[in-house]
Amino acid sequence: EKQISIAIDGPAAAGKSTVAKIIAETLSYIYVDTGAMYRALTYQAQKNQVDLQNEEELLHLLNETVIDLKPSESGQVVILNGQNVTSEIRSAEVTNSVSIVAKHRAVREEMVARQQGLAKDGGVVMDGRDIGTHVLPHAEVKIFLLASVDERAQRRHDENIKKGFESNLERLKEEIARRDKLDSEREVAPLKKAEDAIEIDTTSLSIEGVVEKILSITKERI
Ligand code: C5P
Repeated sequence: EKQISIAIDGPAAAGKSTVAKIIAETLSYIYVDTGAMYRALTYQAQKNQVDLQNEEELLHLLNETVIDLKPSESGQVVILNGQNVTSEIRSAEVTNSVSIVAKHRAVREEMVARQQGLAKDGGVVMDGRDIGTHVLPHAEVKIFLLASVDERAQRRHDENIKKGFESNLERLKEEIARRDKLDSEREVAPLKKAEDAIEIDTTSLSIEGVVEKILSITKERI
């Protein structure tokens, strides 16, 4: 059986990582969460008081930063220069600044090179914003996941409540809309559906429903 590449893109909180993880597990493929890489760099920059607008300093920092994505029971752990930062990179502080870090050309070039290295042997499910358009333009399967801002905010809100976290639905809506705007309007590799990507509107679908659709598309191409 051929080891193919599956690219899953879409806006913030569309459920990309949830379905990507399940698909990777089902196929015994590697799962690469590219958003976690940008988040890890953002965390490291904030910790080192690097100006997030300073492209050169960010690139310098990135070149000294090893980011490891390791599979685990709970999905994936993110290790930054040996330190487990899996939960730290999900903080509001990181989430609300990551799009600033991710807009810089030099940062993206280095990230894309690392991501392409991880995918070079195929057998990979990668999720992000520019996977189908830039990182893996020849991926056999390209998916673009969609849902309304209201729907995505509500899901994130329910998730937070379930985990016992504080959550404000209106604020979530604002944050998600703002991040989508920054990610779609940036100059370098903006969030955009690849021409040959298959769009899936997840609004009225369950996680299993989305997974099933992607698996059936994938089986036709293996
Ligand atoms: O996927 P996640 O929401 O964790 O991504 C965090 C941020 O990282 C995005 O809002 C975007 O600014 C950036 N990102 C990106 N390109 C990717 C993946 C994520 O610019 N391929």
